[in-house]
Amino acid sequence: MPNPSLLILPGDGIGPEVMAEVRKVIDWFAAERGLAFDVSEDLVGGAAYDAHGTPLTDETMDLAQLADAVLLGAVGGPKYDDLDFSVKPERGLLRLRKEMDLFANLRPAQCFDALADFSSLKREIVAGLDIMIVRELTSGIYFGEPRGISDDGRGGRVGINTQRYTTDEIRRVARSAFELARRRQNRVCSMEKANVMESGILWREEVQWVHDNEYPDVALSHMYADAGAMQLVRKPNQFDVIVTDNLFGDILSDAAAMLTGSLGMLPSASLGAPMANGRPKALYEPVHGSAPDIAGQGKANPIACILSLAMALRYSFDRGDDAALLEGAVERVLADGVRTVDLLGDATTRAATTSEMGDAIVAALSRR
Ligand code: NAD
Ligand code: IPM
Ligand code: MN
Repeated sequence: MPNPSLLILPGDGIGPEVMAEVRKVIDWFAAERGLAFDVSEDLVGGAAYDAHGTPLTDETMDLAQLADAVLLGAVGGPKYDDLDFSVKPERGLLRLRKEMDLFANLRPAQCFDALADFSSLKREIVAGLDIMIVRELTSGIYFGEPRGISDDGRGGRVGINTQRYTTDEIRRVARSAFELARRRQNRVCSMEKANVMESGILWREEVQWVHDNEYPDVALSHMYADAGAMQLVRKPNQFDVIVTDNLFGDILSDAAAMLTGSLGMLPSASLGAPMANGRPKALYEPVHGSAPDIAGQGKANPIACILSLAMALRYSFDRGDDAALLEGAVERVLADGVRTVDLLGDATTRAATTSEMGDAIVAALSRR
């Protein structure tokens, strides 16, 4: 059997910095756990634009389609802000998601005990937090037609995006959420704006249909997304799995990230339908972006990207034990007090650099 293939796309800003730490972890698993990957690396985002004039070449797209899993750092940055919309770095990431049909974006938000005091909320509200946001990723207002900017015919302009969901698009992401819930606390909360949007009404009805016909054993509730945002900061522990659309999921998952102490902590998995080998098409990436404000300074927290590799071990490679091993190493390092700048709060201890945090996690793997 050939080794499973892993395509690494570091991208821009802190992307390459955090990915360098992931490479150390990959090397450790190859040496110590007999888990060898065929790793290849390519360009995405602004880095691809600089080299090829496009944020994602067709060749890279083909490699991504063939890989057993793709691991991405982050894309974007101020250098590319004035580019035409069609070649912006973010378009490279959106093309990967769309063409690989990665419809289910899993964004867990877990609060590590050692970090509970660094959350913007009180310790008692976030302690033990463990929620899973399932964000629809290939449809909705991100991709709906018509879209664009044009003249409004009265001397002004009009910007248009379209929120659009079909039965099948809603049902398949709902199934992902119910499946996950069965392996967790068996509860799903679906969020939309059925009070003001027809697409929200359809969303609510179709999620309910999947529940009644296929997952009646899972507890299902519905919430308007604005109320959901409020509940997420009021009493986040009430949630187990949240399923929601592309745009609401983008916003709610950034909010959930901050509950855990830092955006630098949150991994994600974007999963599609199973391939011929039974593995889902998959892309793993941190929830955070390219963090231009700290790029190139060795300040970035690599944990979100390292935990994204743990998700790859679990969801693409059937190595739940190794995923747990890696998550345990991260937890021990945090309990030891190793902190990148974003995790320091008002503390006066010296911050660990990106590379020191990666080394500490590798060392913790070895002394399990
Ligand atoms: P961001 O996530 O890059 O940064 C938000 C804040 O969080 C910044 O203060 C940053 O320093 C901090 N931060 C983020 N990741 C961190 C880490 N690992 N360690 C320490 N601190 C961290 O979001 P933004 O500033 O809104 O966006 C910057 C660029 O990134 C934009 O071009 C945006 O489009 C892009 N972006 C890309 C992705 C992605 O590639 N998936 C996601 C979000 C934003
Ligand atoms: C994310 C990002 C992306 C999104 C951008 C960079 C396209 O914010 O992954 O959360 O909006 O989906
Ligand atoms: Mn986002």
